[in-house]
Amino acid sequence: MNALRHLQDELSELERAGLLRTPAAAAPAAGMLVLCSNDYLGYAALPCSSGGGAASGAGASRLVSGTHEAHLMAEREIAAWLGTEAALLFSSGYAANVGTVSALARPGDVIVSDALNHASLIDGCRLSGAAVDVVRHADVEAVESALLRAQGARRRWVVTESLFSMDGDSPDLRRLRELCDRHDAALVVDEAHALGICGPRGTGLCAEVGVRPDVLIGTLGKSLGLHGAFVAGSSTLRTYLWNRARSFVFSTGISPLVALESVHRVRRAAADDPGRVRLAMITRQLRSGLHALGAPLLPGSSGPILPWILKSPGAAVAMSQRLAQQGILVQAIRPPTVPAGTSRLRITASASLSEADVERAVAGFREAVR
Ligand SMILES: Cc1ncc(COP(=O)(O)O)c(C=O)c1O
Repeated sequence: MNALRHLQDELSELERAGLLRTPAAAAPAAGMLVLCSNDYLGYAALPCSSGGGAASGAGASRLVSGTHEAHLMAEREIAAWLGTEAALLFSSGYAANVGTVSALARPGDVIVSDALNHASLIDGCRLSGAAVDVVRHADVEAVESALLRAQGARRRWVVTESLFSMDGDSPDLRRLRELCDRHDAALVVDEAHALGICGPRGTGLCAEVGVRPDVLIGTLGKSLGLHGAFVAGSSTLRTYLWNRARSFVFSTGISPLVALESVHRVRRAAADDPGRVRLAMITRQLRSGLHALGAPLLPGSSGPILPWILKSPGAAVAMSQRLAQQGILVQAIRPPTVPAGTSRLRITASASLSEADVERAVAGFREAVR
């Protein structure tokens, strides 16, 4: 008997639907141009600058014996960068979102959640036990209607990303803030893709438009080029999550080595206006090269995330394979990561690309669409 025989059946079903994902090779082959990472500022390949000043492992949950000076330094540095009272590190953005949303919202509450929110936000909503009102993507009127419907709820929460990971666009954060204030709701913003690349000193899209969310979530794994994440906000929020966020409480603390390195990366990103200027320049060059090829990029995307919609999973995979033959790595993004009928190439720019790289990439795309 094989109690797991149904697994192969499910995998075969995924394969028939063009949705099977096969584990990737350890690293892109040498010479491959990578146009699908979140390493927007090109920091991921940097060696650690912090040397041997911190332990490699926390050794336990932060609540037990796992809090090291490096964690506290990183949390102070992040809070100072973002102008919040406090911050709390998590071992990943997934853990931060699941743990935070599920700790904050409760049965009897209503969470108004953007239809394109990241899976980790969705899972946090589900785990919270609150009623979840999923609203049309980036539709402020839909948020207002949902908040009106939620007037009788115990508490109201509006959960959104600032720069959406798959569509590369943004909601009207100022109007969301106004709506939250008017309807006594808390605003939770995931800035995973905006921190480091927009706002003054890379402090994100909320800062760029002068909005202060009640809860700001950021990751160390994207523009900062490490791994891990944090939640920034009031000291009370930090203490609350310390007590209530299950993905924090019941998990080994993030590596102190990574925490210490994040202090350097935050300082580097804060000072890296030249990197942001370069990223904007590379993004413009890539975007105009793709437009010249007639690429149907999503019109709302404005930053370094350029979604090329191919609709069917098969078309997206075939295009990704043709690009690989040209030495360009761009993975096909298919359901359930994106809605059915919107399979795509999620092309990303990075400050680490040279102008010649972009020319080579555009030439590769030209060949792939022939
Ligand atoms: C918007 C958003 N939030 C959270 C995460 C999860 O972050 P991490 O990769 O650190 O788990 C991602 C990662 O893809 C993301 O795109």
